Amino acid sequence: MKVLVIGSGGREHAIVKQFKKAASVEQVYVAPGNDGMKDDAIIVPIAQSSFDELINFAITEGIALTFVGPEQPLTEGIVDAFEEVGLRIFGPRQNAAKIEGSKAFAKELMKKYTIPTAAYATFSQVEEAVAYIKQQGAPIVVKADGLAAGKGVIVAMSEQEAIEAVEDMIGNQRFGDSSSRVVIEEFLDGEEFSFMSFVHAGQIYPMVIAQDHKRAYEGDKGPNTGGMGAYSPVPQISQQVIDEAFETIVKPTVAAMDSEGTPFTGILYAGLILTAKGPKVIEFNARFGDPEAQVVLQRMESDFGLFMDALMSNVKFDLKWSEQAVLGVVIASEGYPVKVENGHALPDLTNLSTTHELFHAGTKASAEGFVGNGGRVLLVTSTGDNLKEAQEKVYAGLQQSSWEHFFFRKDIGWRTLTTVK
Ligand code: AMP
Ligand code: GLY
Repeated sequence: MKVLVIGSGGREHAIVKQFKKAASVEQVYVAPGNDGMKDDAIIVPIAQSSFDELINFAITEGIALTFVGPEQPLTEGIVDAFEEVGLRIFGPRQNAAKIEGSKAFAKELMKKYTIPTAAYATFSQVEEAVAYIKQQGAPIVVKADGLAAGKGVIVAMSEQEAIEAVEDMIGNQRFGDSSSRVVIEEFLDGEEFSFMSFVHAGQIYPMVIAQDHKRAYEGDKGPNTGGMGAYSPVPQISQQVIDEAFETIVKPTVAAMDSEGTPFTGILYAGLILTAKGPKVIEFNARFGDPEAQVVLQRMESDFGLFMDALMSNVKFDLKWSEQAVLGVVIASEGYPVKVENGHALPDLTNLSTTHELFHAGTKASAEGFVGNGGRVLLVTSTGDNLKEAQEKVYAGLQQSSWEHFFFRKDIGWRTLTTVK
């Protein structure tokens, strides 16, 4: 079968590679993709928001399955548009993508169905939000209601910081419409992990878990980003906790979406935190995590095309995962996540790509090789019998090149491992 992947980041590169590996998949297309995916897929120069053009392409090319990577087209209704003309597409409809698109919706859902999460309140007036912050005290967390590319969350250690975040988001419209409403929540302390599942018509296939590093700098310091590196498995989270999270969070959430009349199909991403009172939800996403997809999908041993076909046909499938450990480090442009300059040359990636798995995100081809074209540029991963081995391999590879104008965290995996110098 022919498969079309929608999106252009490292996550989509991982989805592309996984389909390419599948014997059941004859050809992978990606729209709009990026230059770094050329060896793995046919690049289709159609924007992810041009639904009509994408639909025409899928019909003309005889695409058997379209797989949507990013949240933006999902919240804009790409699945509804494809389904209307009878095309097979994997992802939530617009009314189900709200679980990611509106934090207020997700919080209300969890409250109604007693799914464990932080206590919260929602505001669209600065004065009321400030009064609430003063009443609750710090630490406290301020979140833009809508999409903000992973940057709309401020974990405020002081009341002042929280108040400034509210003034910036509501008052200065820091994220436009996305922050005209904010959710203010209780600060939760504990180990975070990403628990993603394939969901279709009430069937749930949980994936192996991963941990992302969301802060820009070493030691989990600095501003929140889309994610600076990830690894899987996460040994500090026991199977018992994963099973508990599946029973108390994933299953009831899928059932809740059914009860609400907005059944969920797609990747349900539960961003969880293991508190003293058990796992609680930090956020839901309606798609794969980036960079979690890049490490988790490498552990999938089954044919991805056959699995997707079985899932969408409601046929039982024995989905298999490897015992191997995978660890990935993001190469970002200097200045990310605040302000970056595009066009700087990356080192020659030829050698690195023979020893490591590379996932292109913000890269562009030039006459002299790849140049940076965005905040997160590349994810470099290694596989090993354990995380330590995978971590050593990644950093040994990265040390072979000079990364002027770019930076990467030197401590990905530190919550499990001592940092490799
Ligand atoms: P989010 O975009 O909602 O995943 O938030 C980004 C990051 O902010 C999370 O990965 C956490 O590290 C942190 N965070 C979000 N909500 C909370 C909370 N209620 N308590 C503590 N940290 C949080
Ligand atoms: N890595 C976190 C996310 O994709 O939202």
